[in-house]
Amino acid sequence: MFNSFLLTIIIVAIIRGVLSQFVPPWIPLGWWEPFPCAVDFPSRIFRNVNTTVSSTLTVPGCIELCDASGYNIRYAGVENGNECHCGTDLAAAPNASDVSECDMPCSGDFVTSCGGPWRIQIYQSPELPGNPNTSWVVGGCYVDTPDTPAFDRPIITQTFSPDTDVVDQCNMFCQHRGIRFAGVALNGTQCQCSATGLNFSANVVPYEECEQALCPTLYPGALQLCGGPQRLWVHQYSDFNPY
Ligand SMILES: *[C@@H]1O[C@H](CO)[C@@H](O)[C@H](O)[C@H]1NC(C)=O
Ligand SMILES: *[C@@H]1O[C@H](CO)[C@@H](O)[C@H](O)[C@H]1NC(C)=O
Ligand SMILES: *[C@@H]1O[C@H](CO)[C@@H](O)[C@H](O)[C@H]1NC(C)=O
Ligand SMILES: *[C@@H]1O[C@H](CO)[C@@H](O)[C@H](O)[C@H]1NC(C)=O
Ligand SMILES: *[C@@H]1O[C@H](CO)[C@@H](O)[C@H](O)[C@H]1NC(C)=O
Repeated sequence: MFNSFLLTIIIVAIIRGVLSQFVPPWIPLGWWEPFPCAVDFPSRIFRNVNTTVSSTLTVPGCIELCDASGYNIRYAGVENGNECHCGTDLAAAPNASDVSECDMPCSGDFVTSCGGPWRIQIYQSPELPGNPNTSWVVGGCYVDTPDTPAFDRPIITQTFSPDTDVVDQCNMFCQHRGIRFAGVALNGTQCQCSATGLNFSANVVPYEECEQALCPTLYPGALQLCGGPQRLWVHQYSDFNPY
């Protein structure tokens, strides 16, 4: 006969059994995982670290956040179930831990592990050719349809996890690849990069037509304009060095 205590033990055993077999994370943007589980410490394994605590943490979300947050941010790490760390370099060669110590589910994706207490899963960006000394400026709002794309071909397209900053992600995604023109398309859900930028026959339209979709920014709670259906919201970079 079951009593509620026995039932609780059985449910906990089932949950533990499920959680002990995490699904490998999806690793976007050509990043890779040099350290599946390593030791972190109070002064942090990353240099110039920036930590975000989130109740919706996922591995791809953390990588995309770090990728978008600066040209020189080349490391991302998830830890303690709800922390995303972005850094420029490793502060020291990490001590590897057994992957069984990275046993905390991600707060936004319970089937994937996101480190553990002082245990971090470390991801690294690919070596990319882009120029770090740039600033992005608005290039305008353009009509963009499958038959009349605003950008010259070839166009590299990329989508990102929802709830992150598509405009900055897209600018940094293109910059990392050495591409000078970035645009947000399909009502703010798709990023496009084009080396030569706008096609000679692209039609410019008023900015208001790129206010139909609003996207989050890197600053929680804030929104920015993000294009519209059949509208491309364009940014381009200059080699202006602010330093
Ligand atoms: C690695 O472990 C050794 C021995 O415990 C310790 O002295 C060292 O500081 C650790 N290094 C890192 C980067 O965690
Ligand atoms: C970027 O600017 C820094 C500082 O002015 C300079 O040392 C570096 O060579 C520049 N890099 C490129 C790729 O232009
Ligand atoms: C520019 O647009 C024209 C007309 O849509 C098209 O025929 C041409 O292929 C485009 N050029 C590039 C490089 O995409
Ligand atoms: C575009 O996105 C906005 C909000 O970001 C939404 O209100 C609108 O319905 C979307 N339009 C289409 C055609 O998907
Ligand atoms: C950390 O990231 C937040 C949001 O992405 C940003 O506002 C802040 O300036 C960053 N801090 C550092 C030290 O990079």
